[in-house]
Amino acid sequence: MLNLRIEDKNPHLKDELNEIMEENKAVFRSVLDGESEYVDSLGWFSVDKWANPKEVKKLQELAVHIREKADVFVIVGVGGSNNAARSVIEALQSDDKVKIVYMGNTLSPWELQKALKELEGKSVYIDCIAKNFETLEPGASFRVLRKFLSDKYQEKANERIIATGTKGSPLEKLCQEQGYTFLEFPEDVGGRFSAMTAVGLLPMAVAGIDIEKLVSGALDMQKYLTSGEMMGNPAYQYACLRNLYYKKGYKIEMLASFEPQFRWFYKWWIQLFGESEGKDNKGLFPSSGDFCEELHAMGQYIQDGAPLLFETFLDVREKNASLAPVADMVADGFDYLNGKEFWEINKASFHATVKAHREKLPCLILEIERLDEYAFGELFYFFLFSCYVSARILGVNPFDQPGVEAYKRWMFEALGKG
Ligand code: PA5
Repeated sequence: MLNLRIEDKNPHLKDELNEIMEENKAVFRSVLDGESEYVDSLGWFSVDKWANPKEVKKLQELAVHIREKADVFVIVGVGGSNNAARSVIEALQSDDKVKIVYMGNTLSPWELQKALKELEGKSVYIDCIAKNFETLEPGASFRVLRKFLSDKYQEKANERIIATGTKGSPLEKLCQEQGYTFLEFPEDVGGRFSAMTAVGLLPMAVAGIDIEKLVSGALDMQKYLTSGEMMGNPAYQYACLRNLYYKKGYKIEMLASFEPQFRWFYKWWIQLFGESEGKDNKGLFPSSGDFCEELHAMGQYIQDGAPLLFETFLDVREKNASLAPVADMVADGFDYLNGKEFWEINKASFHATVKAHREKLPCLILEIERLDEYAFGELFYFFLFSCYVSARILGVNPFDQPGVEAYKRWMFEALGKG
């Protein structure tokens, strides 16, 4: 199970953390009891609601069918509609049976043309995922893809189109009229909270990800976080620590790790916390550190720049590959690596980084056993739950995004949408 470690030089941290945890017990209790105010956004809270065995089986069967027929599967979606699936697929996809292509997340014609090129000569299936089928980016890409598919497959094109939208939405109507396969985007789950619904699970399953294992990780994490002793709850501790550091003047949280498999997970996490907490002139700014690489870019600022940020590291305990930089006959000055594997060298780099950074800023470490589907399920639920609690402690509504709507109004005006 996931473990939270704190590396902080502050000798009073333990007392300060106890204090903020005591202060917010009522908030945490109301989250556990189920808050009527947010009931319409809490469909994700109980994993079983939208990722029960029956639903998972249905999605697996559809995925098997697509995997038999498709060379390429296009995920048409933006933000919460594709980030969860992408973070797992980019980290864990281990076969090239079906290539996953992403559209609906850009309006750049160059990028869209590049994506279309990947479809040439291939058997293509698509999933248009849009909770509110007004979002411009997926809507525009969906048009392009419908034309591509109908040019290629004529009246058979509809058999290759899946759309994931809310019940009663214009997208569902389109499915009924055109004969596309319709999957439900739960009304009571916001995009950034939708990893464990058809939104995240179908694309993952098409990519060959074991979604049953992922869901079981989430379910176990749900059980762990929603039962037991409050003060020892790592999600509650993490939510309180975030708020404590925010109050102390840290304005940025950097999620970092030495495992590039997390590259797309950072994006999911950034959206989750940015959109849930960045409102009413409040909220930590979420950022990411893809180490070692970015130690050579941002390491200087982290160590010596303005004291704005604290770090949360993701650390994987179990070795994921065996490789060693074996010595040859060349005197290259790297003999201190002889007899060592990359796994331990990478770990040494991680420990050295924490040692150096903790002198300047607080470092939190979230340890997981191994990086597989189960762990992603655990991590999704851990952060969804922590984010909800953290936003409530901060005093903002975790589930709306009024700021995103503001830019959309101007854009629709510019494009003449009535
Ligand atoms: O989390 C959210 O609600 C948003 O980020 C949405 O996922 C994003 O804006 C895409 O919305 P939609 O699925 O309605 O196209």
